[in-house]
Amino acid sequence: MPYNARMPGPSEEPINASTRYCAVFGSPIKHSASPAMQNAGIAALGLSWRYLAFEVTPEELESAIAGARTMHFLGLNLTVPHKLLAFEMVDVLDESAKMWGAVNTIRFEGRSDSGEWKPLREFSDMPGEIRSQGFNTDADAITRSLREDLGINIQGGKVLLLGAGGAGRTAALKMASDGAAEMFLINRTASKAEDLAEEVRTRFPSVKVTVGYPTVAVDLLLNATSLGLKGDDSIPLDESKFSIGKAHAVYDMIYRPAETRLLISAKDAGCRTSNGIGMLLYQGTAALEIWTGQSAPVEVMREALLKEVYG
Ligand code: ATR
Repeated sequence: MPYNARMPGPSEEPINASTRYCAVFGSPIKHSASPAMQNAGIAALGLSWRYLAFEVTPEELESAIAGARTMHFLGLNLTVPHKLLAFEMVDVLDESAKMWGAVNTIRFEGRSDSGEWKPLREFSDMPGEIRSQGFNTDADAITRSLREDLGINIQGGKVLLLGAGGAGRTAALKMASDGAAEMFLINRTASKAEDLAEEVRTRFPSVKVTVGYPTVAVDLLLNATSLGLKGDDSIPLDESKFSIGKAHAVYDMIYRPAETRLLISAKDAGCRTSNGIGMLLYQGTAALEIWTGQSAPVEVMREALLKEVYG
């Protein structure tokens, strides 16, 4: 039988009373590919851990995080719609969470006898005091995926960004922080693009930000809207205002379907293209590194993720 990410892998430790847990909380959660990816990584590292997924509503988030802490979970991921809420709920914020204003990863930590806070994995007897620390691994995953999947270093580059929701905001701020020279922002609700433009200008004054389509060619067109998730969705770009061939590369944060109409048009126009599976992978490998303190087995996790998402 071929290896299947849903089945126990060859090196997976059996579940017993010392098994430790991580989990993802979200709503909806049913289609999350994180358990397949993370459990493959955990198995490859030879850890007797498991990564679970729970349907948690925003109203339940605080008590769900408290429950995980009470049950000595090692860490959590937060996905839609919890990343902003969790920012307010954790005990301490890592620099990454402060920088991007959202938490997608929590590590539970205990206070040692000497008073130091250490990851819970380092305790065999549970400490009396436990705290939650919030991290953000999404922003760095954008940079890494652009580099590894498209060969793009955005420093000094021009970007056309579609979408000013949560994902669009993180992408705009991260690319600005990476030294993008010029950014053009488009959003269905124009006022949100204006607000985001203002935030980028305030925090990164050296970046030139315009709300509207560029008249010049761009190094990157990045879709951070949800248009394209459904088969009959229209393309998120107004092609009467910007011809897709004027983008050297096109990145769509959507990864299911593997090729959105935007990516098909981009390929036809000769652009380099990538979907968003790399972002999902790299936010996950970084989270596993935060929990384990070890390098994540990136290729094992990539293979499990691709099998889970594309079969
Ligand atoms: P996420 O966390 O994935 O970014 P979000 O914050 O809800 O989710 O943002 C969704 C993005 O997709 C927004 O830019 C949204 O535009 P609005 O700000 O105008 O809502 C965009 N979007 C969603 N449906 C859309 C549609 N039918 N046409 C154009 N843009 C759409």
